[in-house]
Amino acid sequence: MEGIAEHGPTYASYLGGAERIIYTADPELIQYILQKNQKNFGKSRLQTKVLSRFAGKGLLTVEGDYWRQQRRLIQPGFHKEKLSGLVDIMLSVIDSQLDLLEAKFEKQSVINISEEMMEMAFQIVAKSLFSTHTEAQDLKDLSDNITDIQRFVIKQVRQPFKIPWYYLSGQFRQADQTATHTRKILQDFIDLRRQETGEYHDLLDMLLSARYEDTGKGMTDTQLVDESLIFFSAGHETSANALAWTWYLLAQHPEVIHKIKEEITEVLADRPPSFMDLRRLSYTMQVVQESLRLYPPAWIMDRIALADDEFKGLKIPKGTMIFPFIYGVHRLPDYWKNPDDFNPDRFEKNLTKDRSAFSYLPFGGGPRMCIGVNFAYMEMQLVIVQTLRRMSFELVDQEAVIPQPLITLRAAGGIKMKKANKA
Ligand code: HEM
Repeated sequence: MEGIAEHGPTYASYLGGAERIIYTADPELIQYILQKNQKNFGKSRLQTKVLSRFAGKGLLTVEGDYWRQQRRLIQPGFHKEKLSGLVDIMLSVIDSQLDLLEAKFEKQSVINISEEMMEMAFQIVAKSLFSTHTEAQDLKDLSDNITDIQRFVIKQVRQPFKIPWYYLSGQFRQADQTATHTRKILQDFIDLRRQETGEYHDLLDMLLSARYEDTGKGMTDTQLVDESLIFFSAGHETSANALAWTWYLLAQHPEVIHKIKEEITEVLADRPPSFMDLRRLSYTMQVVQESLRLYPPAWIMDRIALADDEFKGLKIPKGTMIFPFIYGVHRLPDYWKNPDDFNPDRFEKNLTKDRSAFSYLPFGGGPRMCIGVNFAYMEMQLVIVQTLRRMSFELVDQEAVIPQPLITLRAAGGIKMKKANKA
């Protein structure tokens, strides 16, 4: 944020005197890149090459006609109504994870909420995809493998000069083997499902039954594995970090917890939330939105200019790397009053109408906006509601919680918490 104060919302420089780089927190320029002239801005090498080598060629990592074809095929499955079948699956995962957490609190007083939410989000995405036939050991392998792969991708981003060493020391080969093993687990899940005749309301069912408009055919097994693997990569760590930051904020704002609980009593009394209830849990939704504003897990995005371009006098030569700085946008004083304050009221319906479209982008914007946005909102609302019915958390004395901007925005070393005395 100091950079923005010093240079304004857009800052251009040359990397090593060669490649031009633009960092921008200007909502108008970001809208130009992601929406108005999006055809001229491709995804960077990080997503299309580095990530796709291990995470496969799914929606997040492909481009052009193939991306368009896949997005058209998969998008209907993520419409709100379609996701309603996932509420019961999510509720059952959340309740079992909370049982485990309660058991943990019997043995230890302090937990790392970042790790707990990582496990919660992993289980939610895993069971939402494969509601049946998920052996605990397979899921554990899947989770460990995906974490290993993500760590390796991060290493390459942070220390690109070591890439030759990673090749020579066999780390690439090892990561390739991990990716192959991961794909095999997913393939086994798909094979098992193909042998089933029952009706399922999970994402795998949606992927298996989706048909291309022109051919009337479904996806091949390779495509199914690619797309499900991408859901894990894109929808696990993001949601986990968002939830961890939400607990961090709530622990400092008991008055907000109080309001959520009032809403729970009013809307649900003692029953579990249904899909229709989610819309009525509007304050809880505002809390989610405000948390994603202050700590957007996708804190930065990346694009590359495919041809020379210009925006309001700013030259954007072909090959320029552009980084929309979402964290910065979300804290611009011109758009957000007292931007560093946690204030869910700013997302009240009547206050959001006049807000400029690209001043709030936790899920990106334009045609490549997150396909999982409704999934993530639903998951976060359900986790918050079900948890607060059973417990809430207090921060323990520790060194300051420092945001660590890796691929997603996480807290360095996690966030330590204990159970609040009065749940
Ligand atoms: C709080 C949670 C989440 C956040 C903050 C988030 C954020 C984002 C952002 C910013 C993008 C755009 C990336 C770009 O344009 O470069 C994106 C894309 C994507 N997200 Fe999410 N996401 C979340 C949860 C999920 C979930 C739960 C899923 C799936 C179950 C998911 C699946 C995807 C996919 C497949 C894409 C690529 C879409 C495309 O390019 O067509 N995300 N996400």
